[in-house]
Amino acid sequence: MDAIEVIRAKRDRGELTTEQIDWVIGAYTRGDVADEQMSALAMAILLNGMNRREIADWTQAMIRSGERMDWSALDRPTADKHSTGGVGDKITLPLAPLVAACGAYVPQLSGRGLGHTGGTLDKMEAIPGWRASLSNDEMLGVLRAAGAVVCAAGSGLAPADKKLYALRDVTGTVESIPLIASSIMSKKIAEGTGSLVLDVKVGSGAFMKNVADARELAETMVALGTDAGVRTVALLTAMDRPLGRAVGNALEVEESVEVLAGGGPADVVELTVRLAREMLAAAGVSSGKDPEQALKDGSAMDAWRRMIAAQGGDPDALLPRAAETMTVEAPASGVLTRLDAYAVGLAAWRLGAGRARKEDPVSAGAGVVLHAKPGDLVRAGQPLLTLHTDETWRFDRAVEALRDGYAVGEASEEQLPLVIDRITAS
Ligand code: URA
Repeated sequence: MDAIEVIRAKRDRGELTTEQIDWVIGAYTRGDVADEQMSALAMAILLNGMNRREIADWTQAMIRSGERMDWSALDRPTADKHSTGGVGDKITLPLAPLVAACGAYVPQLSGRGLGHTGGTLDKMEAIPGWRASLSNDEMLGVLRAAGAVVCAAGSGLAPADKKLYALRDVTGTVESIPLIASSIMSKKIAEGTGSLVLDVKVGSGAFMKNVADARELAETMVALGTDAGVRTVALLTAMDRPLGRAVGNALEVEESVEVLAGGGPADVVELTVRLAREMLAAAGVSSGKDPEQALKDGSAMDAWRRMIAAQGGDPDALLPRAAETMTVEAPASGVLTRLDAYAVGLAAWRLGAGRARKEDPVSAGAGVVLHAKPGDLVRAGQPLLTLHTDETWRFDRAVEALRDGYAVGEASEEQLPLVIDRITAS
């Protein structure tokens, strides 16, 4: 078999055979198919798509390129959540210990952020001493001690995806539903979880800008998980405005701890509890505590503290703060009609909370705090946003990012409901 034959088949809108897919993924991982050939194939897939059978074969081939983790030594079911990424999306932080407190194990492999959405590991690394890199044995130890572990995926997990994702990032081939679905699900299936809840974000701050695309991505991923024996369900959730009131690494940890202490913004609490119930149901845990109760009685907070300490972090340490702040005021009195997720994410990124290249460091303290959410009444001159950064030269570009990102008027614009839909295997 050779690469040109496979590229031509997809270029000409053909269906790739299982053998062609196995061969091309294996050969690319070994270095026998060149980056330029894989780029051409990825572009042909982006333009001409893949059917469900091709996507399933592509996913399985990527899983086989590396190790598959196994949690059968644990005495309770495992559940995981994956979010397609959004602005202010810190849900993993309160959710993982919450689900652990309610009776399931949560082995959560997470990533770092690139672009305007933050990564869970960047947020957790704002906690002094906390370590993202763990061996498989250390992961098992943290799971036994705390019930949940949040850490970086090792290099042995779906290495084909690691290589291909880096290539897609620089060849304009990220935005393909078959490639996104197989990329996410190859890692989640290889991670070995028994059940999985997908949070597919919709709106300006998300990968998927409209409900129809998000639904197609969710349906594709739910089918891939189900066919691989992982009980999988997806929620489509709003990302037209930021989630919660804090955007930025340490700021989001602070807000997550508020949720674990029984407080926090209503939308973060609602989504955390909803996803926790979905995870427990998918894992078949029905006899444990209800998530709302575990937030109130301190048991979720106890699991958080054990999880942080087991990974070298100090749950009582003061979190880093940015050196400088600047307030953006409401331009008029009225209703905050719009506060755009993408604009706020871009502002936080420009303040130093995110990175432009994989190797760049992030600022733990940088970000944006929202003092009002869409639909709230505001008075002219009242603080609308506080920008946090370590370097004052960053303010101008952050303010520029926000220029068309908010509006005050007479009546609220229509917003997406927080939970738009629930997708299960058909
Ligand atoms: N996240 C992934 O892991 N893969 C993609 O292709 C897109 C988002």
